[in-house]
Amino acid sequence: MIPFTITPNTTPTDAAIRTAKLADPGFGKVFTDHMVMIRYVEGDGWQDAEVKARAPLSLDPAAAVLHYAQEIFEGMKAYKLGDGNAALFRPDANARRFNESAHRMAMPAVPEDVFIKSVEELVKIDRDWFPSAEGGTLYLRPFMIASEAFLGVRPAREYLFMVIASAAGPYFKGDAGAISIWVSEHYTRAARGGTGAAKCGGNYASSLIAQAEAISKGHDQVVFLDAVENRWVEELGGMNVFFVFEDGSLRTPPLGGTILPGITRDALLTLAHDSGLSVCEERYSIDQWQDDARSGKLVEAFACGTAAVVTPIGTVTGEKRSFVIGAGGPGQLTEKLRQQLVNIQRGIAPDPHNWLRRLS
Ligand code: PLP
Ligand code: COI
Repeated sequence: MIPFTITPNTTPTDAAIRTAKLADPGFGKVFTDHMVMIRYVEGDGWQDAEVKARAPLSLDPAAAVLHYAQEIFEGMKAYKLGDGNAALFRPDANARRFNESAHRMAMPAVPEDVFIKSVEELVKIDRDWFPSAEGGTLYLRPFMIASEAFLGVRPAREYLFMVIASAAGPYFKGDAGAISIWVSEHYTRAARGGTGAAKCGGNYASSLIAQAEAISKGHDQVVFLDAVENRWVEELGGMNVFFVFEDGSLRTPPLGGTILPGITRDALLTLAHDSGLSVCEERYSIDQWQDDARSGKLVEAFACGTAAVVTPIGTVTGEKRSFVIGAGGPGQLTEKLRQQLVNIQRGIAPDPHNWLRRLS
């Protein structure tokens, strides 16, 4: 593996200021003292791996990322264990998905061991940045940008791979309740053959107007329908979706290239199988969702993702519809699955699939 140079920040955040910031960090606002940066030059490969003080970047104004959006990222968390140590959850899965995104965006792969070491080194050096409340995590954001100064339209020849970290509390305010979602019946997120399965910034840029519409109508998140028939439920702006039926079975939209293959989604499918629950990955239409919610056949629905963990969905509203899921609050199976997942992530429950990677 390429060598890493570790240069601690010489002017780290004052401990009292850090403690104040960590009391209620929210999501994505409180950043740690360090970052990882690795350069890539075509022909020479990855080089100059550094863990160093977090600082603004200096980029040429012609850097390709600023013009053609050649950018990908990951979202993962470090969890605090009962014994005071920290652990990552399935970092190998994030590394693999990162490289699948890289492939789709014509970017170079980052060797999996370099990806994982980058994240681990950052957590180690910034381990004092866990929020003080129980369950607080360090949200890690590995990303890659095309840094070559060139305006011709082709894959860049120079890149930066970086990791930053942020103290993270719950993604949604009022964490205990259920969220309200808005059906985007006008904007779609991804088409067949497009970039829906890649975690690239462009997908999020194009989702912002729909998410802003959701917020302006008083909802928490947008849910997208498929781009061909405008009918099949795909995913939320930043999370996958599951449906729970009265017979205790579960359903989630299939991975077909237009939704993000969520690692939380995959973990929940596995946990559900382990518990003997019936689960299927099949398309579900928005009309069926509405009919089943109204008839009582569908009793719960939830969103899942690294940031959102498992969050119950209480109501669904669109231009042409509005319906309540169950009693509009958290459901039993949703809560059971959330607890099972969180207990593994915090090292409280056994980890039969070896998902936790403890930091030494
Ligand atoms: N779908 C989208 C669009 C996302 O941004 C995320 C979050 O990363 C997910 C789904 C869930 O993925 P994961 O469980 O790997 O965090
Ligand atoms: C994540 O869960 O990691 C995401 O990327 C989703 C985003 C809404 C923060």
